[in-house]
Amino acid sequence: MARAHLTLNPAFTIGPVRRRLFGGFVEHLGRHVYDGIHEPGHPSAGPDGFRRDVIELVRELGVTTVRYPGGNFVSGYHWEDGVGPVAERPRRLDLAWHSTETNEVGLHEFQDWLDQVGSELMLAVNLGTRGPKEALELVEYANVPAGTARTAQRAANGRQEPFGITMWCLGNEMDGPWQLGHRNAEDYGKLASMTAKAMRQVDPRLELVVCGSSSRSMPTFGEWERIVLEHTYEDVDYISCHAYYEEREGDLASFLASGVDMDAFIEAVVATVDHVRALKRSDKRIDISFDEWNVWYLSRWAEQARTFTIDDWPVAPRLLEDVYSVADAVTLGGLLISLVNHADRVASASLAQLVNVIAPIMTEPGGPAWRQTTFFPFSETSRAARGTALQVALDADTTTTARFGAVPVVAAAATSDGASVSVFLQNRHTTEATSVTVDLSAFGPRRTVSARGVWDEDVYAVNDLRDTERVGLRTNDTVALSDGVLTIELPPVSWTAVTVA
Ligand code: AHR
Repeated sequence: MARAHLTLNPAFTIGPVRRRLFGGFVEHLGRHVYDGIHEPGHPSAGPDGFRRDVIELVRELGVTTVRYPGGNFVSGYHWEDGVGPVAERPRRLDLAWHSTETNEVGLHEFQDWLDQVGSELMLAVNLGTRGPKEALELVEYANVPAGTARTAQRAANGRQEPFGITMWCLGNEMDGPWQLGHRNAEDYGKLASMTAKAMRQVDPRLELVVCGSSSRSMPTFGEWERIVLEHTYEDVDYISCHAYYEEREGDLASFLASGVDMDAFIEAVVATVDHVRALKRSDKRIDISFDEWNVWYLSRWAEQARTFTIDDWPVAPRLLEDVYSVADAVTLGGLLISLVNHADRVASASLAQLVNVIAPIMTEPGGPAWRQTTFFPFSETSRAARGTALQVALDADTTTTARFGAVPVVAAAATSDGASVSVFLQNRHTTEATSVTVDLSAFGPRRTVSARGVWDEDVYAVNDLRDTERVGLRTNDTVALSDGVLTIELPPVSWTAVTVA
C-alpha cells in the first residue's frame, strides 16, 4: 500500500478562502438555459418557467457566483434583445453554437432565477462584435439607481431597484481564433482598457475581469497576459484563466494528475501578473478569476461541430452533454484541491458549466433532474472549505504518469475556520489504496471526525437516465483520530473530504 503523511499547523496559512472560489457558469448553450433551468410546462416549473427541482439541486451544489451569459455566446450577444416583453423579443442566430436564440430568458429572468438560487451574478459583456458603448449602456441599465431613460426602461421592465452587479468580465476568450471578434493581445488590451474606463465612469464600484488565455496550451500563452496587462493593469482587478481536462487514450494516471497542470497554469499567470506589476511600479495586486474550469471531452465536441449546416439552427440542441464517470469526479476533486491551494491568488472561480452542458446537474424534458458524479466533490468542497486555506506539508510516495512524470500519490488541501479543520484528499493511484496520516496536534484537542467522498470498484461508473443514483457520496469508515493524528485509508482513484471538529 502507498503512504502519505501530512502536517498541518494553524499558524501556517495560505490565505482566506473567498466564497467566490465556488462559482458556476450558465451560458446560453445547448440545453443549459432552455430545457435545462427553464422549462415551462415541466411538472416542477413555477409560473416563471424555472424548474424548482433544478433550483434545489443548484442550491445543494453550493455555487456562490454564477457567470452569465457566456462563454463564446456572449461575443455575438445583444443584451437588449433579452429585456422587455418576452413576446416582442427577437429570435437571433447564435453563431458560437450554431443555434437559434429565442431570448425568452434574459437579464431580468436570470437575475430572478439567481435570487431563488441564492447566488451572485457575474456578468460578461460582448467585446467580440460590440464595444465600450454597449457595455457602458448595460452598466447604466443594470446599476444606476434612477433618473435616466435607461433606468426608466429597467423599471418599466420590472426592476425598479438596480441589479447592483459587481463582477464583470470584459469579453470572453478573446485570444481564441474561434471567438467572434478575436483580436491580438495589443488590440484586445486597448479595447479592454477603454471599455473598463468607460464602465467605471458609470459605476466606480465595479470589479473587472480581463481575459487571460483560454488555455495554457495556447501558442500566445504568457505573452498574451503580459501584453494585455501592460494595457490594462490599472483598469482591472482580475485576469481570467480557463482550463479543461479529459482522459486521453486511456491514460488514467495522467488524467487524475490534472491538478499538476492547473497548479503550473496558476503559478505561471501569477508570475506574469507580478512581472507586469514590477514593470509598472504599481502597488496594486491583480488576482485570478479562474472563470472556466472542468473536465470536458473536447475531442467529442470537435466531432459534433463538423455536422453543422446552413439550414439547421435548432433551439436548445443537445450539445456538450458529457456524462461523467467516477474517474472524472476524482479528477475534478483534484482540480478543486489545486484551487484551494492557491486561495491567496485565485479570488474567484467558475465551474463550467452548471446544467446539462458539461455539467454536474442533468435534466430530461418532462423528466427528472439528477446529480452527475462530479456534483459530489464540488458540493462537499463548497460546504467544507471554510475560513483559511492552510499550507500542507506533504511527505508522500510517488506514482508515475506519462504526462507529468512522478507525482505525489496523494494531492491534498486543507482549511480551517477555527471550529473545524477540513482536509481534502485525492488518491491518484490507479490500483492501490494509500494509507494517510495527518498530524493535527497543533490544533489542540478535537473530538469528532468524518470522511465522505467518491470512489467505486468501477471507476467508469456513471449516473444517467437509466440509473440516476448509481454513484453517490460514500462514507469512509477507516478514518480515526488519536492523540492529534488522523489516519485514513484511501481507496485507489478516490477523492475524500475529511472534517475534524
Ligand atoms: O464552456 C464551453 C465553452 O468553452 C465556452 O463557451 C468558451 O468560453 C470555452 O471555450
